[in-house]
Amino acid sequence: MKGVILAGGLGTRLHPLTKVTNKHLLPVFDRPMIYYPIQTLVNVGIDDILIVTGGNSAGDFLRLLGNGKEFGLKHINYTFQEGEGGIAEALGLAEFFANGEPICVILGDNIIEGNIRKPLEAFRLQKSGARILLKEVEDPQRFGVPELKGDRVVRIDEKPGNPKSSYAVTGIYFYDATVFEFIHGLKPSDRGEMEITDVNNAYINKGEMAYDILQGWWTDAGTFTSLLGANRLVARTGANKMEL
Ligand code: G1P
Repeated sequence: MKGVILAGGLGTRLHPLTKVTNKHLLPVFDRPMIYYPIQTLVNVGIDDILIVTGGNSAGDFLRLLGNGKEFGLKHINYTFQEGEGGIAEALGLAEFFANGEPICVILGDNIIEGNIRKPLEAFRLQKSGARILLKEVEDPQRFGVPELKGDRVVRIDEKPGNPKSSYAVTGIYFYDATVFEFIHGLKPSDRGEMEITDVNNAYINKGEMAYDILQGWWTDAGTFTSLLGANRLVARTGANKMEL
């Protein structure tokens, strides 16, 4: 399995913090934000990693991470997203890297307390399709929100005014190689971006989507409030630590 970390975007919700640097290089407690999703992948043995960056300071990722020696890696792959086409467009840039293999995708501002070992094993058994990780949150309208029926996700709404559940779709996704076919068929949403939620709904419509509830805390860090919250969580308990 290969890993893809999406670390582009202009981080406008964090202006002026992101006016001269990339959001994923900002500190979360004692290290740059991007360290956490890398560690999440490395902890489950995924060592073939692509970082999709873009916007400001793209070159700084290379200066910061090099070939990933700090994480025990021999090599890191990088690519660059021009403009602000959205998460799904950024993921589309990983097609060449994935080369037909299944991938684990993590948004560069997603930080977890535990690990993704169990969902990864479950996805391996699945053989095809996709798998998402859900987490109960107090403010689901900030996220992609699943509508659940029994053990199935029947659809996902992106930042709904009227959420159909109290779960967020976290930014950790497992996809088979068909993800790139779905991405090729996407049209931009009302905000002009290619939405990862549309990709996930395409899998749901084909009956090819499974899910797990993520154990341990989960946070993103793309707003002032969530960035502060992420700092607090990591300072208090540490990230990528809890054994599950
Ligand atoms: C993105 C996705 C959303 C998901 C969230 C998780 O939102 O579009 O579906 O729930 O990441 O972090 P964004 O943070 O880009 O607003």
